[in-house]
Amino acid sequence: MSGGQGLAAARGWPLDHIGMAVADLDAALAAWARLGFQPHRMEDVPQDGIRVAFLAWEAGELELMAPVGPDGAVARFLAKRGPGLHHLAFRVDDVASVLRELAHDGVRLVDRVPRPGSRGTRVAFLHPSACEGVLTELVEAAHGQ
Ligand code: CO
Repeated sequence: MSGGQGLAAARGWPLDHIGMAVADLDAALAAWARLGFQPHRMEDVPQDGIRVAFLAWEAGELELMAPVGPDGAVARFLAKRGPGLHHLAFRVDDVASVLRELAHDGVRLVDRVPRPGSRGTRVAFLHPSACEGVLTELVEAAHGQ
């Protein structure tokens, strides 16, 4: 498969969510509630050491991620940079095949194979250096969602 086809496919990826690192989930929910955003799903993601809340709006979701302990990528992010934008996530049909395509095209990856995300999804992260400093996630929805 050529790199050109990969880029063409990428242009069609819908935004799935925007990930925000927060230190205190309740305080973050209160802040977003003042703007009219309400959580519709809360979930513990023990494999990432975080608790997440999803807030929906027309174009996608906000994912508020709060660490539940001192370890994990989100805790390290907060210690280094403070709360704020953490990642963008795009929806794809088949994470594994997109990863193969991107690796073939020389795109730097954090995850070379998909791993479990929240909501029963399969996810993978591209390295921020591949996307001008923004951590980028690919999300493959669980079947039936
Ligand atoms: Co995410």
